[in-house]
Amino acid sequence: MVILHFKSTLLTIPSICVSSFACSFSCYSSSGPPVLHWHQSFIHRLPTELLCCIFLMCGEPSPVASYPRDDHMHRADVDWNHFCQYSRSAVLLGRVCSRWFTVTRGFPRLWTVFDVGAPFGLDFVALQLCLRHSANLPLSLRIRDYTSLPSENDLVSKLLKHLMCIVANHAGRWEEISLHVLAVKDILDPLLALPHGAFSCLARASLITEERRQPTSDDPIVLLWKAFHSQPSLRVVEWPDIPLNFVDLGNDPLLKNLTHLGMGAVAQHDLLSLLRHCPLVQVLQASILHRSSNEITLRSPLTVRLRRLRQLILTGSDDMTAIYSSLVVPALRRLDLSTTKVQHEAIIDMLTRSTAHLVMLTLHCSTYEHRDNIAALLQDQSLQQLKILRYDIRTVFPNWRTDDASYDLSPFTSPGVEFFIDWQDAEDAYKTVTSSL
Ligand SMILES: *[C@@H]1O[C@H](CO)[C@@H](O)[C@H](O)[C@H]1NC(C)=O
Repeated sequence: MVILHFKSTLLTIPSICVSSFACSFSCYSSSGPPVLHWHQSFIHRLPTELLCCIFLMCGEPSPVASYPRDDHMHRADVDWNHFCQYSRSAVLLGRVCSRWFTVTRGFPRLWTVFDVGAPFGLDFVALQLCLRHSANLPLSLRIRDYTSLPSENDLVSKLLKHLMCIVANHAGRWEEISLHVLAVKDILDPLLALPHGAFSCLARASLITEERRQPTSDDPIVLLWKAFHSQPSLRVVEWPDIPLNFVDLGNDPLLKNLTHLGMGAVAQHDLLSLLRHCPLVQVLQASILHRSSNEITLRSPLTVRLRRLRQLILTGSDDMTAIYSSLVVPALRRLDLSTTKVQHEAIIDMLTRSTAHLVMLTLHCSTYEHRDNIAALLQDQSLQQLKILRYDIRTVFPNWRTDDASYDLSPFTSPGVEFFIDWQDAEDAYKTVTSSL
């Protein structure tokens, strides 16, 4: 209780107040009257190991890191104006008192995550401390720069490029590189100048930009993905739109090692051709393009066997029959759908063919009348082990209908099913359920 209070207060106030706060904190209990003297402060009596555990909880986890996930369906409720970056908090903790300075500097795990928005002074300090005090542990880089002021864009790009030079100088240390930027400009140049194989421990990568771009073969994002794809350690990727523009299906042996795939707009048949090369995928997120008139209709569906697929996250097209009728997914236990019809027959066919049983189902932002479809799905044999149902009809797009009353689905589920609306709550429940499976 006291510790939580401490955590939330400490990390939202400027560094200058931190030390005075630490003093006053140690003199008062949360209920008011002074009970302890400075030399008795229980926070100062905590063993170093416990202090380290508390420090590890500093800052908020960057949503940039939680891929594969769908931006709308799995929307992190983050107030970016008051977002408390993990790395900045780590630096500030060391400024509280001499003991905390020593403890933070001697605690390598605290320095393994570097997260930043538009980078400024304190962030460069944090990056240097990460490199210096992380005792050669693998590092995570999480950049989310969506600066809203156009007047700052040039300055921010310059600072980001400077940051990338430092990142590039230690290329072999990064286990995760997650970059979400408004505009790429030349910020990736320092990374692109590195020799083949420089990102020797890279396991997770995400490169997302808000720019509308038609990737060409000399596009920096395409080139950086090529460099990443030459790393045998890579397992988790979040590609931007139209992955097949830079994934060479015939000639990318890495695909067969990937375990988590997230991607922007992709046509159903392109997704299926891609998946045939990714037999080890466990979590798949894709935003499916509406079928265009020139899309090939497959007469007899492909069979794509994904032995390890646990979670399937699909959005976009209202008709995903081609996907459902091709997949054989015996390990599937979670299906997350958004802005699509509930094609219960095709889904039930897929689950039955695979002898899969769902533990969690998400129905988000549905746009059509389909109560009967949902009821039929929920009552099917393959959903009798369902534990978690997230049913959220709110839409994130202003022009779409939001006024539908949500249906009462409880008559169609067994009594053990927990209902959720918010993503984070459902996610936490899923973690609890799967940890006991
Ligand atoms: C796939 O993973 C294995 C085992 O870690 C590794 O030896 C191999 O080089 C990887 N393949 C590619 C193409 O990266």
